[in-house]
Amino acid sequence: MYKDIKSIPVIAAGGIYSGQDIYRFIQLGASGVQMGTIFVTSEECDAPYAFKKTYIDSNQEDIIIIQSPVGMPGRAIRNGYINKIESGTEVPKNCPLHCIKTCDYQKSPYCIMKALYNSSKGNMKRGYAFAGSNAYLAKKISTVKEIISALKAEYEMAELKMI
Ligand SMILES: Cc1cc2nc3c(=O)[nH]c(=O)nc-3n(C[C@H](O)[C@H](O)[C@H](O)COP(=O)(O)O)c2cc1C
Repeated sequence: MYKDIKSIPVIAAGGIYSGQDIYRFIQLGASGVQMGTIFVTSEECDAPYAFKKTYIDSNQEDIIIIQSPVGMPGRAIRNGYINKIESGTEVPKNCPLHCIKTCDYQKSPYCIMKALYNSSKGNMKRGYAFAGSNAYLAKKISTVKEIISALKAEYEMAELKMI
């Protein structure tokens, strides 16, 4: 069935944050890369400033894997709300939304729908930010044009073996 397939493009993703990273994965044979986290702190990203600020303010040790109530792990930035979840004070009293069958609210440490809604509105006291492993590298809000220019310059430097 697959004998006519000459090549399958592989797109590398996860933790790619610099032009050097892109260069490394292209050298390893990837056809391209997917980058998410680096664009969260762009001006063009429509997340609220409070959400973006959690990236800028984070340290490497704040980037953690949490278990979501729907049964999947997710990478997030530790904040006061996650601390509350871990201390068991955020247990849902009811479930008005029934958003997914795999979530039993009586066994859930918190309601992820409410937490994500709150963080999407910038209410980080009642929610948290999902993020890639390199979110702590964000230092400021930049335009997409500035981010792409920096990535291109870093890629070219890596190509010339200058970095
Ligand atoms: C705000 C945010 C939300 C995300 N939500 C999901 C998600 O719901 N499901 C998923 O599979 N990946 C999710 N991801 C992970 C992306 O798939 C990941 O960012 C992408 O592979 C690129 O990796 P990078 O962010 O390290 O560049 C999310 C990433 C971010 C930054």
